[in-house]
Amino acid sequence: MNFSGKHTLIVGGSSGMGMAAAKRLLDAGGSVTLVARNEKKLVQSQESLGATDKVNTFRCDLNSNEEVGSLIDHVSNEMKDVKYLINAAGVFFAKVIRGTYRRRL
Ligand SMILES: NC(=O)c1ccc[n+]([C@@H]2O[C@H](COP(=O)([O-])OP(=O)(O)OC[C@H]3O[C@@H](n4cnc5c(N)ncnc54)[C@H](OP(=O)(O)O)[C@@H]3O)[C@@H](O)[C@H]2O)c1
Repeated sequence: MNFSGKHTLIVGGSSGMGMAAAKRLLDAGGSVTLVARNEKKLVQSQESLGATDKVNTFRCDLNSNEEVGSLIDHVSNEMKDVKYLINAAGVFFAKVIRGTYRRRL
């Protein structure tokens, strides 16, 4: 596929599946914004992807409502050209299964 001129927001883009997707999109001519918590890792990932003019970063912890709000503002105000979204970061809220079952009955 040709992703030339197409921008993708990748939440969890600084490693693993998100970064692998970023590489594929860049190889196909696209550009990306990587979102993750660790600023240093974001910069390292941006550098290792090479085309720094096609890779933006935004620091955000999905566990923080305030930071997610900042990300939403950033996307709304600064990323009007964004075309695709990849969610590659998961947040797990551990619960005792039996307790969850009882509360939901
Ligand atoms: N790889 C698999 O085979 C597989 C299979 C099934 C499910 N999953 C799930 O898919 C997700 C991605 O897997 P992966 O292997 O690509 O993991 P990974 O290499 O650990 O990458 C996770 C990415 O998400 C970011 N991240 C983690 N917590 C975050 C948070 N609270 N807010 C914002 N960014 C956050 C990480 O950067 P920072 O740490 O800097 O935030 C990193 O960029 C995980 O939730 C994993 O459990 C993976």
